[in-house]
Amino acid sequence: MAIVLGIETSCDETGIAVVEDGRRIVASALASQVPIHAQFGGVVPEIASRRHTQCISQLAQQTIDEAGVAVEAVAVTIGPGLMGSLMVGVGFAKGLAYAWNVPLVPVHHIEGHIFSVFLSDNPPTFPFLALVVSGGHTCLIACDEPHQYRLLGSTRDDAVGESFDKVARMLELPYPGGPSIQEAAKAGNPRAIRFPRGLEHSGELEFSYSGLKTAVLYARQRQTASIADLAASFQWAAVDVLVSKTQLAIEKTGAARLVLAGGVAANRLLRERLVAELPIPVHMPHLSLCIDNGAMIAAAGDSRFRHGLRGDFRVTPDPNLPLCNKGVRS
Ligand code: KG4
Ligand code: ZN
Repeated sequence: MAIVLGIETSCDETGIAVVEDGRRIVASALASQVPIHAQFGGVVPEIASRRHTQCISQLAQQTIDEAGVAVEAVAVTIGPGLMGSLMVGVGFAKGLAYAWNVPLVPVHHIEGHIFSVFLSDNPPTFPFLALVVSGGHTCLIACDEPHQYRLLGSTRDDAVGESFDKVARMLELPYPGGPSIQEAAKAGNPRAIRFPRGLEHSGELEFSYSGLKTAVLYARQRQTASIADLAASFQWAAVDVLVSKTQLAIEKTGAARLVLAGGVAANRLLRERLVAELPIPVHMPHLSLCIDNGAMIAAAGDSRFRHGLRGDFRVTPDPNLPLCNKGVRS
């Protein structure tokens, strides 16, 4: 049995959790900065790191007290993300691991999202295909075995979550854009406007969301469609691309199961359409574990710890960390 503390501070959520065996959340706490950044329409990096600094100690103390168990390893997101925000989490994790004399386990943020699914009631077995969709990433990854990944395709420009956030701004809907577009779309017709699907017929597993975003901007300027119809048509097109590229990836790789993860995995239309339209089972995290959180980092850290992949105190945050960085085998 392993008890791992996970720390996530790569963007605008301070997430701390204690997880047992990579499967069960013993205690967790999350301090969201959404209300702070909402007034600026997006994350302000300096404010984000300052806020992490202000709340991390108290959040960690609360989680550790609530868990009431001895921690055997400290896992922390070391990238990708905002440099200042990552530094707060990594520095704090180093301090804790040193004081407790336990290993420090560096975790890639995307790997954390993938491992959020192991905290669900229906965890997958390796190998699987992963569709990771968030504010910073849109990628299809072949997960051959734990910590062995092959990037099959990613976005050439905007990430899908980023396009939800930018389109919400155009439609004067509140930040973050994903949930507010999903809400506005309820009253709209998804077939009101046929927006372009980026790289639709390319036969490749690459994504592009900038053309879709610009098409929504022009449609908004024409003022002929309602906000609800624009939101519904945009959401349908954005999800359509994810479904069809995932279908293509399944055809190309013969994958037997899909893992959906990342903030955009909370999107109801995406969840429903993947389950309805894919020929293979879909494993998804609980809604509460789609956005950034400490538990997913602890779950990934638990697996790294078991596989002998851990860091040392020289580890530094990397805002552009590639997924294939495997850490130090001990
Ligand atoms: O994973 P996450 O918390 O942070 C990053 O790693 O980027 O993802 C945040 C992103 C935001 O762009 C947000 O608009 C999007 O996830 N998001 C959604 C939904 N909930 C959050 N997008 C579509 N539908 C949702 N329900
Ligand atoms: Zn994330």
